[in-house]
Order: sequence, then structure tokens, then C-alpha cells
Amino acid sequence: MSGLLEGKRLLVTGVITDASIAFSVAKVAQESGAEIVLTGYGRMSLVERIAKRLPKPAPVIELDVTDEEQLASLPDHVRKHVDGLDGIVHSIAFGPQSVLGGEFLNAGWEDVSKALQVSTFSYKSLATACLPLMPDGGSIVGLTFDATLAWPVYDWMGVAKAGLESASRYLALHLGPKGIRSNLVSAGPLRTMAAKSIPGFEKFEEAWVERSPLGWDLDDAEPAARAVCALLSDWFPATSGEVIHVDGGFHAVGT
Ligand SMILES: NC(=O)c1ccc[n+]([C@@H]2O[C@H](COP(=O)([O-])OP(=O)(O)OC[C@H]3O[C@@H](n4cnc5c(N)ncnc54)[C@H](O)[C@@H]3O)[C@@H](O)[C@H]2O)c1
Repeated sequence: MSGLLEGKRLLVTGVITDASIAFSVAKVAQESGAEIVLTGYGRMSLVERIAKRLPKPAPVIELDVTDEEQLASLPDHVRKHVDGLDGIVHSIAFGPQSVLGGEFLNAGWEDVSKALQVSTFSYKSLATACLPLMPDGGSIVGLTFDATLAWPVYDWMGVAKAGLESASRYLALHLGPKGIRSNLVSAGPLRTMAAKSIPGFEKFEEAWVERSPLGWDLDDAEPAARAVCALLSDWFPATSGEVIHVDGGFHAVGT
């Protein structure tokens, strides 16, 4: 894959552990020639420690995607490391426990709105915050979990992902004229920190491993990361508003 992202300057959000999908994206992207700047949220010293495990240690900028001031100052912070961006990776989701795990009927608006703000609206917030860094176009890629179906324990996070899938199509519409593409990778279940916080997540795990025609490794984020890198590259120049499944083929088969 060497060279696929040669010369690309990428902002990658969402690294918290080395199991994070974003960590695999940053690793594969560096191996493919990209220059990476990370953003971290909350536990910054942990993110900085994890960033040093990449093939080439990457700088980390603090970013809470719900913080307007941090979003406004993001371009200045990014410019300390690179002179612009060719791509952005949104690998961020959060839902309070009350919106997941079978609590769909009981979850209140305050918690649901938090899930939607962090997991859905932030895709637009991050994109618009970075626009000054992408005057010549570029590629924005986010991560979803197939939102065309209702899943047993995903509840309002599923609604947030349906919103994300729609928001990506609207970004494709509004940013297309600026030469900016917006696409999502729909990954199968992976054992990350976010996934472990979902009560009953093992229900997905069992179904995927059993039913995916290609098989599915719950501990390997690299297939999803490779697809993200492909979408960031020049090899999808006319693709926008798309959702690419990286799920072992699970979405395509019945029981
Ligand atoms: N793990 C899976 O099974 C799976 C499957 C499909 C899609 N996804 C999606 O992949 C993306 C990455 O998740 P992951 O599984 O790698 O888990 P993860 O826990 O490693 O990453 C989630 C990230 O979201 C960040 N985050 C949460 N609130 C934030 C905020 N306010 N501002 C900025 N960052 C914030 C966390 O710091 C963390 O780095 C998410 O969108 C998730 O929904 C995950």
C-alpha cells in the first residue's frame, strides 16, 4: 500500500487506545505515506502516549467536538504542524448509558441530545471547522454502524448513526462544489473502548462471527482502516455521499 497517501496531510480524530479504529487508520495512513495530525479528547496524556506507538509519533491537538471555541481555534492549531489538509477522519461517538442497551423507550431527551450532538452533529461541526484548511478540496470520512436496521441494544445510537449517514449525504451535497467528498465506512463490530461500553454488545459479536460470509475478526480494525484510507486517497475521486460496508459481507446476507 506504500504510496497510496503520499503527500496527503490528514487530521485524524478519535484515538483513545491502540484498539481505536482511528489508531489503525493513522497507522495505515502513515505506512501509506501520509502526514498525520491527531486530535484527542479528555484523557490527553493517554492519547499522547498512544500517539507515540504509531510508526511515526504524531502531534496531538485537544478537541472536544462540542466545544465551539476549540472548533474555532482548530485551524490555527493544525497549521502549527501542516500547512493545510487533504483529508479529515471523524471517528467519534458517544452515548450516555441510558440511551443504549435496550432502554430505547425510557431514554430522555437530555441524554439522547448529547448522543446526537457528539455522534451526529459533530460530523458537520468538524467539517466546517476545517474548511479554511481545505481550499483546494479534499476528502472527509466518518465511521458508522449500519443504520438501515434496528439492532437489539444499539437503540438511540442507531438513530444517531442514521442521522450521521444522512448528514454525510448533506455534506456531500453542500461541499461537493468546493471539491470536498464525504463518505462513511460502515464497520462490523470491533472490540474498542466505545463498543465495550455498550451493554449486550456481545450479541453483535456472536452474530457477526457466525454469519459473515468472509468471517469477521472482532479484534482487527485494519480492514476498516484500509477502506478509510482508500476513501481518503485519489482512488475514489468521483465518490461522495456513499457508505462502504467493511463488515465481512454481513449486511448482504439473510439468516
Ligand atoms: N467498535 C465498533 O464496533 C464500531 C463499529 C462501527 C462503527 N464504529 C464507530 O467508529 C468510531 C470510533 O469508535 P471506536 O469503536 O474506535 O471506539 P473508541 O472508543 O476507540 O473511539 C471513540 C472516540 O470518540 C471520542 N470522543 C467521544 N466524545 C468526544 C467528544 N466530545 N469530542 C471528541 N472526541 C470524542 C473518544 O475520545 C474516542 O477517541 C465511532 O464513530 C463508532 O461509532 C465502531
